[in-house]
Amino acid sequence: MSTLLDVTGLSVNYGGVQAVHDSSIRVEEGEAVALLGPNGAGKSSTLRAILGLIKSTGQVNFRSTSISGVACERIVSQGLTLVPEGRRLFPQLTIHENLMLAARHRKAIQSTYEALLARLPILAERRDQPAGTLSGGEQQQVAIARALMSQPDLLLIDEPSLGLAPTLVDRVYELLADLKADGLSMLIVEQEVIRVLNFADRAYAMANGTIVMSGSAAELRNSDDVKHFYLGAEE
Ligand SMILES: Nc1ncnc2c1ncn2[C@@H]1O[C@H](COP(=O)(O)OP(=O)(O)OP(=O)(O)O)[C@@H](O)[C@H]1O
Ligand SMILES: [Mg+2]
Repeated sequence: MSTLLDVTGLSVNYGGVQAVHDSSIRVEEGEAVALLGPNGAGKSSTLRAILGLIKSTGQVNFRSTSISGVACERIVSQGLTLVPEGRRLFPQLTIHENLMLAARHRKAIQSTYEALLARLPILAERRDQPAGTLSGGEQQQVAIARALMSQPDLLLIDEPSLGLAPTLVDRVYELLADLKADGLSMLIVEQEVIRVLNFADRAYAMANGTIVMSGSAAELRNSDDVKHFYLGAEE
């Protein structure tokens, strides 16, 4: 296994608010890694900083090459992309249009699009429907499909189950399992702690901008601290 993403000493400061402080995260090739933490812990800021969407300090390496300070579009073209929190689709545009916009800089657009529709029949049926008229679960599938249009090797996913009913969360995780089986690596921010720890290989827990715990998903699942801090409501 080789290291795909290596983040060391990452810090994000929003004009005085220290959102992320000296955090280190690693994703090996083929792994699904979970990033847990309560609201405001700094999870989204971490993903956005890795992708070059916001300013940060520290070191971010992708495939052993520094991407610190590199523009987001160039990072995406190297094989790293983000499914943002809240999906951020263009609601008036059709599924087809949302996906095509995401792929405008890439070759083999049409074949990638056709392969995605074959994998996600619901999107094929609804391809000419405005994205805003889809259910939350369908919109999450479109958001993931849009990210896949850039043919990534590593997907950063911010709260895929946010606002979804449990059966729709199942559907989203079935899709993630399919993608993982195909070799896609992932870093998943998730507040559905049990769900993601049953899916991921390893996990990190974040609080107040710092990584407070890391280990195999099984270790975190069995940790008294995780049970206490994150699963209190589910015990
Ligand atoms: N653009 C911004 N300007 C100023 N402060 C911000 C900005 N974005 C986030 N923050 C602050 O940074 C901290 C971390 O926010 P972030 O969105 O990374 O947390 P999160 O772990 O993703 O939370 P959630 O689970 O609610 O999505 C919070 O205190 C938040 O208020
Ligand atoms: Mg967030």
